Amino acid sequence: MKDSAEIAETPAYNCPICHDTGWEEVKNGNYVAMRECSCGYMQRQRIAGKLKFASIPKEFEGHTVDNFQTDCYSSQGGRELALMAKTIAKKYVEQFSEIQESGKGLYFYSSVKGSGKTRLAVSIANDIIQEKMISAKFATTIQILDQIKATWGGASKNEETEQKLIHDIVSVPVLVIDDIGVEGVKDWINERFYNILNGRMIEKKITIFTSNCKIEELKFDDRIINRIVKMALPVQFPNESIRTAIARKENSELLDRLLGK
Ligand SMILES: Nc1ncnc2c1ncn2[C@@H]1O[C@H](COP(=O)(O)OP(=O)(O)OP(=O)(O)O)[C@@H](O)[C@H]1O
Ligand SMILES: [Mg+2]
Ligand SMILES: [Zn+2]
Repeated sequence: MKDSAEIAETPAYNCPICHDTGWEEVKNGNYVAMRECSCGYMQRQRIAGKLKFASIPKEFEGHTVDNFQTDCYSSQGGRELALMAKTIAKKYVEQFSEIQESGKGLYFYSSVKGSGKTRLAVSIANDIIQEKMISAKFATTIQILDQIKATWGGASKNEETEQKLIHDIVSVPVLVIDDIGVEGVKDWINERFYNILNGRMIEKKITIFTSNCKIEELKFDDRIINRIVKMALPVQFPNESIRTAIARKENSELLDRLLGK
């Protein structure tokens, strides 16, 4: 514990110029103007705000494309597919400013669950936020549908509320739609996905999908499938579960610990 003398000596701020306000005073004669401090405080605040808005699940916070591993897949073919996916993701982020104008996103798929699709999709979003200062948002298809349903019930039942939500989802510059294809087939779901995806396609907004099936295997209307084909480049992931491999390793380590090995 710090004693009182130490506490008195420790400044309550990290930056001696702006005292962690982000703003520096600039005197010009009698005139005092404010400018952003060169310590980067305001930039960090902006990135923190964008990361909060992104609602990236805790499990994937802080992951970047660079720390996506490709050597953890057991087969040679798996490692090659993972390396291809990582290379595409890296180049995609590097060339994002030009690609953004085309509106082309990515579609990560593998039939086996736990192959790293969400991890890499989120990493792209993280990198775009931090390196390009562009807003991104993460949502599973179930979360999107639940949010839509929440605008229906009770006192807030209001078409305008739903329209506004769809409009907000359409406007996000980069949207990760996680686990598309698990939502079941219903007319109202087709209708909402059509509105969201058609809106994003027309506005040339970037969408990154993850799924357990190929685009053409999705059980949506053709008009939705056609739009996803137009909006995203399909990228195949290895049919191997890193989730299961990690779980096995954790269990074996726990067992060793419990048995005092
Ligand atoms: N290449 C990788 N390097 C390090 N960790 C990985 C890698 N791929 C996956 N993981 C880890 O394995 C777990 C499963 O990955 P993830 O959730 O991305 O799989 P998924 O393909 O999206 O699965 P699902 O099909 O169930 O949605 C996560 O904890 C993730 O961090
Ligand atoms: Mg996933
Ligand atoms: Zn400062």
